Amino acid sequence: MPSHIVLTQPIHTDQVQRLVDLGHRVTELGGERGLLASDIVAAAPTAQILICQLTDHIDAEVLALPNLTMVATVAAGYDNIDVGAAAEHRVMLTHTPGVLTSASADLTIALMLAVARHIPVSDSAVRSGGTGPWRLLHHPMGTDISGQTLGIVGMGRIGRAVAQRAHHGFGMSILYHSRRPLESTPQQVPGIRVPLEELLSRSHVVSLHAPLNNDTRHLINTRTLQLMRSDSILINTARGGLVDEVALAEALTHNKIGGAGLDVFEHEPDVHPSLLACGGKVVLTPHIGSATAMTRHAMATMAIDDVLAHAAGEQPKHVVSLSGSTTRAITDQ
Ligand code: GLV
Repeated sequence: MPSHIVLTQPIHTDQVQRLVDLGHRVTELGGERGLLASDIVAAAPTAQILICQLTDHIDAEVLALPNLTMVATVAAGYDNIDVGAAAEHRVMLTHTPGVLTSASADLTIALMLAVARHIPVSDSAVRSGGTGPWRLLHHPMGTDISGQTLGIVGMGRIGRAVAQRAHHGFGMSILYHSRRPLESTPQQVPGIRVPLEELLSRSHVVSLHAPLNNDTRHLINTRTLQLMRSDSILINTARGGLVDEVALAEALTHNKIGGAGLDVFEHEPDVHPSLLACGGKVVLTPHIGSATAMTRHAMATMAIDDVLAHAAGEQPKHVVSLSGSTTRAITDQ
C-alpha cells in the first residue's frame, strides 16, 4: 500500500524517485536551518514515514504524530532524535552507520594538518600578497605531526579509522579512551587504552569521536582543558556538544592549548562568537565530515533502502535498538 513519506530537507533526486516510482506520496518540507518539531507537525500531520537529517529536532511532539511508524535519519548519529519518545510511541528509527567512516576519518586528518600547518592562514597570506609568509622564519611556524602522540576519545568505527591513518600514515603513537577495550588485535588497530586524564595530558593532538549523551556533554571543559598540553591541538568532528565552546575559546585566547579544528558546533548552524574571535588558532568547517559526493549518496541510498523495506512490511537493515521496545509495522495503523 502506498505510504505518505515526508522529507524534512532535500536529498538526492534519484533516491526520491525510487519512492515516487513505487507510488508513495512524497512531501518535501525544505527549510534552511533544520526544522523545529512544531514546523514538522504543522506541515506534515499525516506523515507515516519521516526522512530527516541531523539538523532537525525530532522530539516527542513529532514522534506522537498519529500515523508515524518510522523515522529514517540520513546520518550515523541520532542525538537530535528523542529515542525515549520513539520507544514510547513505538516508532522505528533507522540511521546510516558505516558508510561515512572513511570520509569522516579523512576530514579529521585534514583538520589536524590544517591547524598544525596553519593552512587557512597561509592561504589568506598568499592571496593578500606580501613577502612575509615566504621567509624562513615566518610566523606562525607550523607544528610537527609525524611521530607525535594522538589521543582518541571514543574508539568506535571512526576513531579506529583515524587511529589507522595517523599511525600508519604519520607514525603517530595512539592513546585512546573508551568504555570498552578494543576487540581487535593491536596489529589491526594501534593504540593503548588510558584514562581520559592521562590521554589529555600526554597527547599532542586530541581528537573526539564519542557519541553525545548525558555522560559526554561538555567532556571538554575548563577543567579538562587545563590538563592538556599548552601546545596541543583539539579536533572535534563528532558532535559540538562534547565541547564547552566558551571554555575552549578562553583556553585558545590564553594560550592554554595551541589550536583547534572544529567541524561540529553545539548549536549548528550557529557558531559561538567567542570561537569566531579566536582568529587563525581555530579552523572551522560546517559539519562536512561525510560531505563527499560518494558518501552522501551512499547515505541517502541506505536510508531509502530502509524506508522501502519498512513500507513493504519487511525489516530494514539499520534499525536503532530502542531498549527492547517493539515498533509498529506500517500496516498496524
Ligand atoms: C554525521 O555527523 C553523522 O552523524 O552522520
